[in-house]
Amino acid sequence: MKKIFLALSLVAVSMSASAQWGRPVDYAAGPGLKDAYKDYFTIGVAVNKFNISDPVQTAIIKKQFSSVTAENAWKPGEIHPKEGVWNFGLADSIANFCRENGIKMRGHCLCWHSQFADWMFTDKKGKPVKKEVFYQRLREHIHTVVNRYKDVVYAWDVVNEAMADDNMMFRGFRPGVKPSPYRQSRHFELCGDEFIAKAFEFAREADPTGVLIYNDYSCVDEGKRERIYNMVKKMKDAGVPIDGIGMQGHYNIYFPDEDQLEKAINRFSEIVNIIHITELDLRTNTESGGQLMFSRGEAKPLPAYMQTLQEDQYARLFKVFRKHKDVIKNVTFWNLSDKDSWLGTNNHPLPFDENFKAKRSLQIIRDFDPVLDAHQPKEDFVPNSMNQPGQEYPMVNSEGYARFRVEAPDAKSVIVSLGLGGRGGTVLRKDKNGVWTGTTDGPMDPGFHYYHLTIDGGVFNDPGTNNYFGSCRWESGIEIPVADQDFYAYRKDINHGNIQQVTFWSESTGKMQTANVYLPYGYGKMVKGKNGKMTQERYPVLYLQHGWGENETSWPVQGKAGLIMDNLIADGKIKPFIVVMAYGLTNDFKFGTIGRFEAKEFEKLLIDELIPHIDKNFLTKADKWNRAMAGLSMGGMETKLITLRRPEVFGYWGLLSGGTYMPEEIKAPKAVKYIFEGCGDKENPEGINKSVEALKAAGFKAEGLVSEGTAHEFLTWRRCLEKMAQSLFK
Ligand code: G3I
Repeated sequence: MKKIFLALSLVAVSMSASAQWGRPVDYAAGPGLKDAYKDYFTIGVAVNKFNISDPVQTAIIKKQFSSVTAENAWKPGEIHPKEGVWNFGLADSIANFCRENGIKMRGHCLCWHSQFADWMFTDKKGKPVKKEVFYQRLREHIHTVVNRYKDVVYAWDVVNEAMADDNMMFRGFRPGVKPSPYRQSRHFELCGDEFIAKAFEFAREADPTGVLIYNDYSCVDEGKRERIYNMVKKMKDAGVPIDGIGMQGHYNIYFPDEDQLEKAINRFSEIVNIIHITELDLRTNTESGGQLMFSRGEAKPLPAYMQTLQEDQYARLFKVFRKHKDVIKNVTFWNLSDKDSWLGTNNHPLPFDENFKAKRSLQIIRDFDPVLDAHQPKEDFVPNSMNQPGQEYPMVNSEGYARFRVEAPDAKSVIVSLGLGGRGGTVLRKDKNGVWTGTTDGPMDPGFHYYHLTIDGGVFNDPGTNNYFGSCRWESGIEIPVADQDFYAYRKDINHGNIQQVTFWSESTGKMQTANVYLPYGYGKMVKGKNGKMTQERYPVLYLQHGWGENETSWPVQGKAGLIMDNLIADGKIKPFIVVMAYGLTNDFKFGTIGRFEAKEFEKLLIDELIPHIDKNFLTKADKWNRAMAGLSMGGMETKLITLRRPEVFGYWGLLSGGTYMPEEIKAPKAVKYIFEGCGDKENPEGINKSVEALKAAGFKAEGLVSEGTAHEFLTWRRCLEKMAQSLFK
């Protein structure tokens, strides 16, 4: 039980770690999309027969969506396959599902070149009919479908995909013959573009109040956008009742960018005040549009970086949709889950996976911050203090935004692993010179952050910054300024100690081990001993441990342990002491085995090999009441396990985002003079406060710190060291 509690406290420390520690995260926890967007636009989904009959799927629909579209059942060829033959079965079931659950529908679609009631073009002998006959049949079809469902429908895709794609414009190109902007469908060949006007006329007759939409794909392609604009404007100027434009939104993880999308929305807003995003999904390849060119293929897992690209693309698209909520009235996902997708599961295109489990993209779409939406970062960016000499980028601004710049002309994607919480990182965009730039979507937590670049799936360091050991490798690092940073700033007006790297043979691990040792200014000076004789001053020792993925360089470098000590000593806040920062054998740890983590190996190395080495080679006071142990994150777990198992070694214990002690766990209360516990306020502050209160109530000298505005990161631990140090060895 105790170990699970410890594991839980550690996991509680950083939720993102939970996925890392193999704990499934329920991204659907929280309000539904329809509620998160109630002040913006309705959120819809296209459904098939399975989606409205399976309880798991209907529960998702009822929670998440305020609009439903029949993916295929209402299409002319499906619902009216032959003259006088109506196939209302599934069509009615979907309508009734919505009526029973108070969900409004988008009617898709009344007139389209695909899945159409092709019998309308021919007579009983198969001969082509006159357009008047076609119109009569189309009118009867539209009136029948509209009158059957207009009670539950708020908008109709009256005509779908009547305009030519850019690549069609050149097919059959004949010199001197102006290519037609229209798709050369049977409708167009029989009627020209008049069939569009007729279809809207018939729909308005049947539904005087419904919103009548012209729906198409690739609306962000400049040529197609203008063809749609010109057609709708011409129709509306001629009095054709087109109320709005449907942008299908069959996009991909690379395309479109915000600028292309906004250009289309702004252009269409010149002629309509209703735009629906009618069929949103994001392919994980470079294909887009309503046609399927690449094969579906068997489902295979999506590489993590592509998941990040998709999450980022959804975040960017929805940010644009929110910005244009004045004209964007609905956003509909084309299918409920990857399993249902016309694109095939292999594209992983939707926020629900093939098992109807919500993905992080759902959380990212839902948990937007309207303040950040409207906020433009202050343009007072300066090169980061952690940059390599002469490197301008990365930059940070006074608000904590970070801006990155990477040259990779032939890359398809560049992702910085640093970004808003809960997001997979910041996705950069390439300009025409092959330079990728990007700014975090919001201010970063203050303090130090490890990060790396993922370029087309490959992991690299940012050539602009120095490297820091974290995540079991040398990573890039960036420092976000903070108001109270003076306590770890280099002060030229004080004396400074030094940090020595020591190596020692470890029999237990069978190899040389390394530690960094901070020695306070004046180390080695002679002082009058108790016996009045001059002797070299001896010092208490703090054994200070790093976290998983780090090593003995982490506290001295990104932890700024030496500067924190120098400043505290110079300000007379502490008496000098030695700090030993050794490698904690943490990095062979396998995630998901936290329950079995014992730190036995490090206990042996620390107590049987390192401490004897330090006491033999440095001027230490080699007894428990002059020896402290503290650690961050996994180093905190090690500290708790070892101090409770070996209370005879250390007199002062510190856990920094590394769990908590409960009084009943400490078998020898007299064994410890002081306990420190700390974490960031974005971790588990209640756990820390409750534990410190309980320890004090049980008579222990305990102290806690909750670091303001930080999470599981080094500024939390710098502040903890600064506070804890002032109570050690007293
Ligand atoms: O209904 C027949 C069924 O009787 C037969 O057994 C089965 C065997 O293949 O086919 C069924 O028809 C399929 C139909 O979906 C219903 O499931 C067609 O083969 C299949 O091609 C059709 O695909 C639909 C496609 O439109 C047709 O173009 C997709 O599911 C649907 O997602 C897709 O949706 C379109 C939008 O309506 C308009 N915009 C583009 C979007 C994607 O293409």
